[in-house]
Amino acid sequence: MIIAVDGPAASGKGTIARALAKHYGLPHLDTGLLYRAVALTVMRLGLDPAVEADAVAACDFDDRLLAEAELRSDPVGQVASIVSAHPLVRASLLQRQRRFAGQPGGAVLDGRDIGTVIAPQADAKLFVKASAQVRARRRYAELHAADPSLGFDKVLADIRARDARDSGRATAPLAQAPDAAPLDTSALSIEAAIARAIEIVEAQRRRG
Ligand code: DC
Repeated sequence: MIIAVDGPAASGKGTIARALAKHYGLPHLDTGLLYRAVALTVMRLGLDPAVEADAVAACDFDDRLLAEAELRSDPVGQVASIVSAHPLVRASLLQRQRRFAGQPGGAVLDGRDIGTVIAPQADAKLFVKASAQVRARRRYAELHAADPSLGFDKVLADIRARDARDSGRATAPLAQAPDAAPLDTSALSIEAAIARAIEIVEAQRRRG
């Protein structure tokens, strides 16, 4: 069984994808980490993320980067959003994601274009969302402890900028697949969101 989980930054899609993988005993790939690894490589090499050739040169990143904590920082997320808009960057990471999805037994993948581009044949598709205010509040709670100088307005502005870039790009933009079930986590606890996600996957499997 292949499960595709898409949605904007801080929607809860990663938490939900990990929980689904655990529930069904499937391997999980956070595809955002691949774009983040490209971004961090661009930053460390002093390249320009807005220049496609620079970003493409970073696609051959060292896999050990995938375990680095810095990968999950907000600045890396913003640069990941910039490099991910280049068609050649997306093409370069495509096969790796398709191979992961094609494992015997299946997999759970989360990102922006799993249900639309990477695995349109997925058995279950969720589009996880939450209002920008709620997502910014979650992100702020996570980040403020480490960096007390960070203001809520900056976090909200960053979320909005990333939404606009991820949804507005020409190649594989963030979009709900026509056959994906929406899951709005704005008013749900983590436990309730996970329970609802499992119900949706069960309903989609029965439907076939
Ligand atoms: O999910 P995330 O915040 O870790 O993703 C970081 C950036 O990577 C996101 O802003 C856009 C890009 N991305 C993408 O374009 N396609 C994906 N499947 C996953 C992430």
